[in-house]
Amino acid sequence: MEGDKGTVCVTGGTGYIGSWMIMRLLDQGYHVRTTIRSDPENKKDISFLTSLPGASEKLQIFNADLSDPESFNAPIEGCVGVFHVATPVDFEDKEPEEIVTKRTIDGALGILKACLNSKTVKRVVYTSSASAVLFNGKDEDEMDESFWSDVDLIKSLKNFGGSYMISKTLTERTVLEFGEKHGLDVVTIIPSFVVGPFICPKFPGSVRTILSMVLGDKDQYSHLLNTSMVHVDDLARANIFLLECPTVKEGTFVPQWP
Ligand SMILES: NC(=O)c1ccc[n+]([C@@H]2O[C@H](COP(=O)([O-])OP(=O)(O)OC[C@H]3O[C@@H](n4cnc5c(N)ncnc54)[C@H](OP(=O)(O)O)[C@@H]3O)[C@@H](O)[C@H]2O)c1
Repeated sequence: MEGDKGTVCVTGGTGYIGSWMIMRLLDQGYHVRTTIRSDPENKKDISFLTSLPGASEKLQIFNADLSDPESFNAPIEGCVGVFHVATPVDFEDKEPEEIVTKRTIDGALGILKACLNSKTVKRVVYTSSASAVLFNGKDEDEMDESFWSDVDLIKSLKNFGGSYMISKTLTERTVLEFGEKHGLDVVTIIPSFVVGPFICPKFPGSVRTILSMVLGDKDQYSHLLNTSMVHVDDLARANIFLLECPTVKEGTFVPQWP
């Protein structure tokens, strides 16, 4: 383990990517605060987090919910960096798109305001998604920062997971606009399908999809066509790089996902 690099906050510590990032951040010398949703009946097993190497000295767990944006104030206060990873992942569209999008945007804005008010947060790294850029209606092989998914196009496609795609598109736009307007250093990372090992107890949806041929889940086969993937550990290391790299805004780092 490396020496003390300061305190960072990871939202969504119970999730696939969030929990892997916590493990890597502890390993790389950070003190970590993470947020999980409140569990009044103590039904959630979070021993996969509390038993991580270094967790007893360097990991603090807070309750926060995107539906209550101010709940992120306490975990963010005093942090040098924030990784905003949490999002409702509901590909079955159980909730109306407008509700999901409002929750993700309001939650993200609460997190960004807490970062601004803290006076200690130097950068926010927001986990977006390929779905925020892929549905752009253009027929081009190479994409850059000017590409955005078209919300009307997503709606017209009536795709599986449409509300997730719309919420990711509109939330990424919102966090970048907020950063620009308030002078907060915000960078976003756009993963494709995230695969690889996991430490959370829940079987991650993206790993399940990638294993669909092994699991015999024929409904998922179509998602394997032309799907780009990124290993969860590469994503965690890219997130940490984006926090630490002083020149990240100067276009010196262009991640080339396979
Ligand atoms: N996995 C992929 O292939 C992939 C690809 C591109 C982008 N991403 C992005 O990566 C991030 C993490 O995804 P993941 O695959 O790790 O998903 P995940 O395992 O479902 O994790 C999502 C996390 O968000 C939390 N969360 C959900 N609703 C919340 C709310 N209302 N308030 C606070 N926290 C809430 C969940 O908490 P609970 O445990 O309480 O539900 C969980 O900790 C997301 O932003 C996602 O869009 C993922």
